Amino acid sequence: MNADALTFSVLRTPICVLLRLSAAISLLLGCLASSHATLADGNPPDDATTLFKDKVRPLFERKCFDCHSSKAEELKGELKLETVEQILKGGATGPAVIAGDVENSFLLRSIRYQEDDFQMPPAGKMTDEEIAEVEKWVKALKP
Ligand code: HEC
Repeated sequence: MNADALTFSVLRTPICVLLRLSAAISLLLGCLASSHATLADGNPPDDATTLFKDKVRPLFERKCFDCHSSKAEELKGELKLETVEQILKGGATGPAVIAGDVENSFLLRSIRYQEDDFQMPPAGKMTDEEIAEVEKWVKALKP
């Protein structure tokens, strides 16, 4: 083996290893990316769950639970707002929220003060930011 051939074979090994490594890495990244995509596709319910837990429920707790929870002295409109199930089931007039449907969700119409004779909370409108959080959550809910 002459010097050139030796250099070549020494050089060749690392390159080969590098190539394999990079193939393995891109395979791995590909896997991560695709599993991430699958996760993202399945994500909206999780988004909705997080939004409800972190934003919407604490908001309802402050603004609505006095009249719409098991803590209420007298439950109003037969509506509890403590769990997503309760909200979807709704109260005396039916479902309070229709998953994914902001315009037809009665709860949203009431907090936006869209209905002249039905405004929640009765004592005063929530801020635009608060209402936007609820909208975001309803949109994130999968029908
Ligand atoms: C001070 C008490 C009070 C608070 C606070 C209050 N509500 Fe109400 N809510 C009522 C009453 C009373 C009714 C029933 C009105 C009726 O039937 O005419 C009602 C009914 C509703 C209904 C319709 C239920 C049904 O199916 O008939 C929705 C939706 C609703 N409230 C949402 C909310 C939301 C959201 C909040 C908080 C942002 C809230 N309310 C805060 C008193 C309250």
